[in-house]
Amino acid sequence: RRRVRTRHLREMKERGERFSMLTSYDQYTAAIFDEAGVEVLLVGDSASNNVLGNATTLPVTVDELIPLARAVARAAPHSLVVADLPFGSYQRSAEQAYDTAVRFMKEAEPDCVKLEGGAEMAPQIELLTRGGIPVMAHIGFTPQSEHALGGYRVQGRGEAAEQVMAAARAVEAAGAFAVVMEMVPADIAAQITTELSIPTIGIGAGAHCDGQVLVWTDAFGLRTGTMARFVKQYADLHGVLLQAATAYRDDVRAGTFPADEHSF
Ligand code: KIV
Ligand code: NA
Repeated sequence: RRRVRTRHLREMKERGERFSMLTSYDQYTAAIFDEAGVEVLLVGDSASNNVLGNATTLPVTVDELIPLARAVARAAPHSLVVADLPFGSYQRSAEQAYDTAVRFMKEAEPDCVKLEGGAEMAPQIELLTRGGIPVMAHIGFTPQSEHALGGYRVQGRGEAAEQVMAAARAVEAAGAFAVVMEMVPADIAAQITTELSIPTIGIGAGAHCDGQVLVWTDAFGLRTGTMARFVKQYADLHGVLLQAATAYRDDVRAGTFPADEHSF
């Protein structure tokens, strides 16, 4: 199998082929998703709430994300590995974004980085792209701006459609090689996908995007509780692990583990 490069996603869009992306935060899931042929792995800042126990993506730091990104990059020889730039590590200026992205590229060796925002991120996207670091943009609902956006809400309904369209055009013009669209009405996402030359990747953005992304702990049921409407459940890992842990506890209590074959 070939190693997926940014240009391959562009070629897939041109051929009308859909591609998939999952988050990954560790070596074992990275290796499994790579083996499954998932084209893109995102070391999301969603590690904040899915690995580190925070309530939102805001607290996670560059120092916390780099080791996770390095583990995923090392374990996934074929998938394109994307490292999320966390809140506060790129918004201040293009230079700040460049310094942060270079740290990721040197210390974790992903294939590219992702950042949230539209036209206001054009200087960041331009400088990184000029410096040889491909940038995946992220528009629509952007979790790092949760407080400014007033909570988890669909972006681009009605009058606001033009704002999302403008953000998509701006990140493409700035040089982004792909754009994630989160919680955008399906018809707007379809229009953007037709208009843009770069691939669009949807999460809660309907079926007409060039690619789809899900947070793996949601999609495969490691996390339980309320799920966003856009999540499809492909497995119940919570149930699998709960059963295994309970069986192990029961064995130890009963004295049936370890047996002779586990002993020296
Ligand atoms: O961090 C993340 O999981 C993401 C995806 C939802 C696109 O940015
Ligand atoms: Na993210």
